[in-house]
Amino acid sequence: MASKVSCLYVLTVVCWASALWYLSITRPTSSYTGHRQVNSISIARKNVSFGNIRTRPINPHSFDFLINEPNKCEKSVPFLVILISTTHKEFDARQAIRETWGDENNFKGIKIATLFLLGKNADPVLNQMVEQESQIFHDIIVEDFIDSYHNLTLKTLMGMRWVATYCSKAKYVMKTDSDIFVNMDNLIYKLLKPNTKPRRRYFTGYVINGGPIRDVRSKWYMPRDLYPDSNYPPFCSGTGYIFSADVAELIYKTSLHTRLLHLEDVYVGLCLRKLGIHPFQNSGFNHWKMAYSLCRTTCAVPKQVADGAIAEFRQLSTAEPTLTRT
Ligand SMILES: *[C@@H]1O[C@H](CO)[C@@H](O)[C@H](O)[C@H]1NC(C)=O
Ligand SMILES: *[C@@H]1O[C@H](CO)[C@@H](O)[C@H](O)[C@H]1NC(C)=O
Repeated sequence: MASKVSCLYVLTVVCWASALWYLSITRPTSSYTGHRQVNSISIARKNVSFGNIRTRPINPHSFDFLINEPNKCEKSVPFLVILISTTHKEFDARQAIRETWGDENNFKGIKIATLFLLGKNADPVLNQMVEQESQIFHDIIVEDFIDSYHNLTLKTLMGMRWVATYCSKAKYVMKTDSDIFVNMDNLIYKLLKPNTKPRRRYFTGYVINGGPIRDVRSKWYMPRDLYPDSNYPPFCSGTGYIFSADVAELIYKTSLHTRLLHLEDVYVGLCLRKLGIHPFQNSGFNHWKMAYSLCRTTCAVPKQVADGAIAEFRQLSTAEPTLTRT
């Protein structure tokens, strides 16, 4: 009798176990909609960390667009999307960029899309002025996070999200600041080369191999509890970096599961390391402010030189950087 009961008991347990196992393998683990609760429970039985990662992003970036340009890439696919981190009061800087290197109509046959990135300002008057500016130029995007130096990473992620959502077919993306001069000729013809096959998983800029600064007075101070390691992965200086557009979605999605850091360039470097993408060093990217020189900023590249000897080519590219802080 006793053995019969225990046999039944074992059988019931086995049945329950198989039912649970069956449930856990038949529920699609990648589905974000629907039975989210059930999902995480059944996955948790199998693999706790996997369930947690899929269902609870640690950095969900749940902001809404306050100003958006969802149709900017609809008519034609840009070769290059330029994302410029800016602040509300920099009306003049934005206008200068629109009229110079950021002009979307500078290059025949090469579509450029220029966008300025902003958060929400505490001052409603400034928000309103930006709204009006946006209605004139249609080149501003704003999400509803508070615009501050410590939220720069959110601004970059907003840009990545925008490219991934509204412009994923673009070939390249540049992220830069509003106090930067970009030599677009160099950038387009020497670096990106529109006539060659577009690269993928490509990331370049001024690569920094460094570690956290623990001096609280520094602009780049990093508290030990936020980042305990003594080294950063290689990252491209936030003054300006360029990547193939496929990387935008990869970084954005990786960021959802990567603890936020306020240093946006370091943070992007962390995401790249997770993705196994190595940023390329590029000698034409200048990290520091340079003395103004007419030749640095306005010399056109003579066609025969651009097409010509490598030696000359190198010389030219060091004398005349692609990117300069103004
Ligand atoms: C469980 O999660 C770990 C870490 O995310 C992962 O490496 C491993 O492959 C997972 N195992 C299963 C059976 O899914
Ligand atoms: C960053 O933005 C978030 C969302 O608006 C806000 O809660 C937070 O206070 C901001 N952080 C800083 C340092 O301004």
